[in-house]
Amino acid sequence: MSEIIVNGGKKLYGGISVQGAKNSVLPVLAATVLCENECVIHNCPALSDVNTSLKILKALGCTCQTEGNTVTVDSRGISGYKIPDTLMREMRSSVVFLGAIIGRCKKAVISSPGGCELGPRPIDLHLSALERMGVTVSEEHGYLICSAEKGLHGAEISLGFPSVGATENIILAAATAKGMTVIHGAAKEPEISDLADFLNSAGARIYGCGSDSIRIYGVERLSGTEHTIIPDRIAAATYMACAAVTGGKITLCNLMPSHMVSTLWVFREAGCDVELSGKSITLSAPKRLKRVPTVRSLVYPGFPTDAGPITVAMLTVAEGTSVFVENIFENRFRYVDELKRFGAKIKTEGKIAVTEGVKELSAADCRATDLRGGAAIVIAALAAGGESKIGDIHHIERGYDDIVSALRMLGADIKYSKD
Ligand code: EPZ
Repeated sequence: MSEIIVNGGKKLYGGISVQGAKNSVLPVLAATVLCENECVIHNCPALSDVNTSLKILKALGCTCQTEGNTVTVDSRGISGYKIPDTLMREMRSSVVFLGAIIGRCKKAVISSPGGCELGPRPIDLHLSALERMGVTVSEEHGYLICSAEKGLHGAEISLGFPSVGATENIILAAATAKGMTVIHGAAKEPEISDLADFLNSAGARIYGCGSDSIRIYGVERLSGTEHTIIPDRIAAATYMACAAVTGGKITLCNLMPSHMVSTLWVFREAGCDVELSGKSITLSAPKRLKRVPTVRSLVYPGFPTDAGPITVAMLTVAEGTSVFVENIFENRFRYVDELKRFGAKIKTEGKIAVTEGVKELSAADCRATDLRGGAAIVIAALAAGGESKIGDIHHIERGYDDIVSALRMLGADIKYSKD
């Protein structure tokens, strides 16, 4: 299994264009199941999760082509409604296919997605919403069998928690359901608005995304369309942290800074100069980062949980002690033990991580624990003098489009080692 080798301690300089958003392209690829003609999707990042989504589409009978960062999906030949177990295991977020498959095929069979590295990741909100729309759900031998023989109908749904995935699943199921669906307490993430933009360009009638009340008027059918995925705000924050922690200066292009307001605040509090210019952000790091006031992860537009590990890693070398509170997932600190291998001083208690900044980190051999935890380890390795080795990089490859090449373009001494 290959590893990432980092010779840290070098300042990052230069500029890169940021990849398309993982958490937008995945639901958009699922949405192609609903479209009765060819869909062309631009700015798709090259990720293993995207590959898994394409495998799921092919398993359902769709045809998929990839050319650079453009993916073409034709679901006219859709013939199945079951996601193979192996693919469900590869990508937990394949649960977002559920609403689209039921919307197109009136039936879907998936293996119940197991708990993930972030703690239990139930789908009760997804299933109870779909049941209100006419879906019957039964569980047999670890499979969820969902069917709506009479077709889906609109419903008024109140989400007990603004779940991103549940909001997406309801939108996908409601797009071609009979009647209107209203989601109260919907998630407001930009990736949900991007999904709605994709669906509306194919003929759907979805209103209110970005607010906590979304209305979907079901339509007969959806056509094909062409769409460009929004930039990845979490990948952008990751590269900013890489520059911040090495004392460098970088410019990121093709961004939507308006999606990153709560994240940019933390970099500024840490002493970075952050300049916005259209779709670019330039970050200049101070000689040494400062501690920041307590950061709490919240649903959008609050501070994103996915930027938590990245921020904690960045602050391991700040002057002073910083506190991070993880309010979204139950167990998102598994990466902390790996950061401690670099000499980081972090104490966790429940959902709180207290980081006492140290002057410098030292190189270490470690493993990625999950996607964003893996990114946190890359950040620590870039800050640490000497050679660090990072294993289990498949976690990182799920969400970062060739992070090694991107960081090399910014002057990092980083490479893959093929065993
Ligand atoms: C999406 O996950 C993202 N994944 C996550 O990004 C992100 O961290 C998360 O939203 C929050 O922003 C994708 O979009 C593919 P949720 P999702 O449903 O939809 C609980 C990354 O690193 N919950 O908003 O799974 C759940 O347990 C990944 O890119 C229920 O209780 O997140 C969690 O505590 C990680 N019942 C909280 O809600 C449900 O039915 C947030 O989950 C659903 C969720």
